[in-house]
Amino acid sequence: MNYKIVVLPGDGIGPEVMREGTQVLMQAAKLYGFGVELEEGIVGGASIDAHRKPLTDSVLKLAKDSDGVLLGAMGGPKWDGLDYSIRPERALLALRQELGLFANLRPVKLFSALASASTLKREVVEGTDLLVVRELTGGIYFGQPKGVTKLPDGTERGVNTEVYTTPEIERVARVAFEAARKRRGKVTSVDKANVLEATELWRKVVTRVHKEGGYEGVQLDHMLVDNCAMQLIRDPKQFDVMVTTNMFGDILSDEAAMLTGSIGMLPSASLGGKVGMYEPVHGSAPDITGQDKANPLATILTVSMMLRHSFNQIAAAEWIERAVEAVLNSGYRTLDIQEKDCLPVGCKEMGRLVREKIEAMKG
Ligand code: IPM
Ligand code: MG
Repeated sequence: MNYKIVVLPGDGIGPEVMREGTQVLMQAAKLYGFGVELEEGIVGGASIDAHRKPLTDSVLKLAKDSDGVLLGAMGGPKWDGLDYSIRPERALLALRQELGLFANLRPVKLFSALASASTLKREVVEGTDLLVVRELTGGIYFGQPKGVTKLPDGTERGVNTEVYTTPEIERVARVAFEAARKRRGKVTSVDKANVLEATELWRKVVTRVHKEGGYEGVQLDHMLVDNCAMQLIRDPKQFDVMVTTNMFGDILSDEAAMLTGSIGMLPSASLGGKVGMYEPVHGSAPDITGQDKANPLATILTVSMMLRHSFNQIAAAEWIERAVEAVLNSGYRTLDIQEKDCLPVGCKEMGRLVREKIEAMKG
């Protein structure tokens, strides 16, 4: 097998963490006997600087014609003042929409070596292993009408619209139920059905898909988003798979990330179209850019998700995850997960340690 992978490092720490991610990918290819062909593209702020737009048609075409897309991070203070329509983040939203990636999988699994790196108590976070399934191409991120208009009295009016249709809810619900079947068989659907009609529909459709889709082996619960935000830090072990709207998923997945010690640990997969896109959940972190301080583990685990979900290279994916765990168990830590008596390392060294472990474990 030869996989054509488009690499979009993006802005800020994106290129640094991506360098470590792609090196792990190439190593895995060599060790597990598959081929990878990497093609790099410019997106986000870097693309604004070069082409005056965050995503060019040629990069989009490159992504559409590939077997998988690896993305770093986008954005930074330099481009914050720009109009919404040409901000770096637009590239991300356009890629998601153009590639039809309606389901975003964000696994939140605590490596036990990091149980005391979290700001929450060890006994609360230990054993956390949940999956956020976030709807990614609908809801308030894309709903019409949207925009800011001037009113006759000189003030302004800003509008965004939360919209969901039956098919949009059905397809993401199915992804959640299927994922739960391969895990602990429990889905929590998160909404605000007591206030928002669009999510009242969400609850109704998820309930129907559960009943009619042949998912009786899976337990379904519904939870209001405010309660969910509280339950996540009160007792995260109650969750297996969580399925929710685009915006609620954005917020809850950042919150859930902190259970693992750092958002620098969290990978994600965006699926639903012909081509999957894989990105670390963290942002471009301009404050630590270019200082070899970033945590590359989210990107390395993102590579592992790509091998698993797009290429079915399960053995290679598992080795990568085990190598990350082994390096953490040996006490190596980047700045974001630094603890007393641990061994501080930079981005490059962390990447090298993981590759060394993969090599040693495979041999
Ligand atoms: C994420 C990010 C993006 C989002 C931003 C950068 C547009 O926060 O992937 O969670 O809101 O989806
Ligand atoms: Mg986010």
